[in-house]
Amino acid sequence: MTKLTLSSYLDERKGPLEQMMLDSVERLDVPVHLKQAMLYSLQAGGKRLRPMLLFATIEGFGENFEKGIFVASAIEMIHTYSLIHDDLPAMDNDDLRRGKPTNHKVFGEATAILAGDALLTFAFQVIATIDQNLVSDIQKVNLITELAKAAGPEGMVGGQVADMEAENKQLSLAELEYIHHHKTGDLLSYSIIAGAILANASERDVENLREFAKHLGLAFQIKDDILDIEGAEENLGKRVGSDINNEKSTYPKLLGLDGAKCKLDDHILKSKEYLYNVSINSEKLELLVNYIMERDR
Ligand code: IPE
Ligand code: IPE
Ligand code: MG
Ligand code: MG
Ligand code: MG
Repeated sequence: MTKLTLSSYLDERKGPLEQMMLDSVERLDVPVHLKQAMLYSLQAGGKRLRPMLLFATIEGFGENFEKGIFVASAIEMIHTYSLIHDDLPAMDNDDLRRGKPTNHKVFGEATAILAGDALLTFAFQVIATIDQNLVSDIQKVNLITELAKAAGPEGMVGGQVADMEAENKQLSLAELEYIHHHKTGDLLSYSIIAGAILANASERDVENLREFAKHLGLAFQIKDDILDIEGAEENLGKRVGSDINNEKSTYPKLLGLDGAKCKLDDHILKSKEYLYNVSINSEKLELLVNYIMERDR
């Protein structure tokens, strides 16, 4: 068998995911301007990392990736909404995202806010209406409950509020961890837990996956903070220096660039320790973990 590479894996999975996600929005009978704004940000690209984490988890447990395609697209819709809102003038006030002008720059603030709201709400509809033969009602309730927790006040929204409140402040490491866990870690973790729910993983495996995902989510945002300083705009498709402009609390600000890189390595190492305790074929997840550490976009 040929050795699996990350790029071949991503290439194979991205097409079906994007087609499913875009078709489901295309089919909606909604005001044209709203649909255009939703599709604009969904189509702008993006690494699709959260869907890939879901697929790698579900496949690691021996299931077909197609079983996860609806939940994966729901996650990517919620992630995309979070980026549209994160870029708004009232938040990070950014003008470039996924290599294109931000949603509010093209469609105006009101439509950008509503396109975000639409992607968030529609994501739950996508999960709730999955065919019962593919995903059971009990699985759907679990998936929806966990997603609401990860994206809502106890998760991403709470983290985003803490992030805004931490501007111009000196935080402790614990306070900064809180922000990163919630604004970014929770949705990323959900991608992995959703894969486990769909594959009916054992409680013990879910517990270890939660710890794995927690360290991975933190590592992901630490790397994002580092790239905001060291990255190249043409790779990232977003402005560098956004955090410094907004006087954000970040790992490099608190620990220095080298300190942040050490923390990144620590959390990647810890994530792998937990992953090795899970009864799963971890090949694809490991490729994604290494990518999260080494990525330049
Ligand atoms: C950026 O996420 C926002 C954070 C949560 C740090 P990604 O780096 O996954 O963005 P895309 O989806 O590839 O554009
Ligand atoms: C964003 O964090 C987290 C969410 C969108 C929920 P950042 O503000 O650091 O993300 P980027 O750097 O703009 O992508
Ligand atoms: Mg932000
Ligand atoms: Mg931002
Ligand atoms: Mg950032």
